[in-house]
Amino acid sequence: MKRTYGALPETMRDMELYGFNWMEFVVSVPSPLYIMTSYKSNGLPNACMQSWTTFTGGKNGYFAIVSAVSKYGHLYSTLHENGDAVINFMSAELYDRCMSTVKNNGFDTDEIKAAGLTPVKADKVNAPLIDECFMNLECRLRWEKEIAPGDDYVLACLEIVNVHVDERHLDENDLGRTGETGILYNIHHPMDPESFGGTAHDYVGIVKKLRDYAEY
Ligand SMILES: Cc1cc2nc3c(=O)[nH]c(=O)nc-3n(C[C@H](O)[C@H](O)[C@H](O)COP(=O)(O)O)c2cc1C
Repeated sequence: MKRTYGALPETMRDMELYGFNWMEFVVSVPSPLYIMTSYKSNGLPNACMQSWTTFTGGKNGYFAIVSAVSKYGHLYSTLHENGDAVINFMSAELYDRCMSTVKNNGFDTDEIKAAGLTPVKADKVNAPLIDECFMNLECRLRWEKEIAPGDDYVLACLEIVNVHVDERHLDENDLGRTGETGILYNIHHPMDPESFGGTAHDYVGIVKKLRDYAEY
């Protein structure tokens, strides 16, 4: 039997939503987790954990559709100042260090070095990449839009112009891009409104291959 929710359930009325919509916690659709890096106006590296992004391509290029860039963060300012950034995918053992950038978020801080990681100038764009991350996507801002007028976040379309992938992760029989050694995912607290009574606590997760489409 399915349960249907079209309005905020009573059990979630006092929940701290951190700017999210309550429905996100009821459907809990995972999204890739990464850290976006750019240069602040003082030349120091900025690092911003990001999620809620999809990647799509075609004959006109390959694009990151970043659905929630806070208008009040450094990342938003840096994208406006020079338009360039790098999407860095971290493996599980780098998760804690990458998360530490949320606390070490000062304007006068090199947020990559403060996390014990190594900033390296990207090849094609004016942004730093994180050397230890196994995959780095060099990007240029193409356009941005408010999803709904007056939002605190913008949806940003970034064109990916150069990619770096660690050779052990390119080998699907070695570290690969999925499973425990691959891309991490952000999972909103999957909650049951009928029994929910606490606070939301999100999860970090992984995806794994289930079947090969070639079987069809
Ligand atoms: C797991 C995780 C995912 C996040 N996703 C986003 C996101 O999608 N958009 C966003 O604006 N902030 C997101 N944040 C918050 C920013 O990473 C955080 O506020 C950061 O310190 C802002 O950095 P900045 O001001 O240097 O850009 C996320 C944080 C975490 C821990």
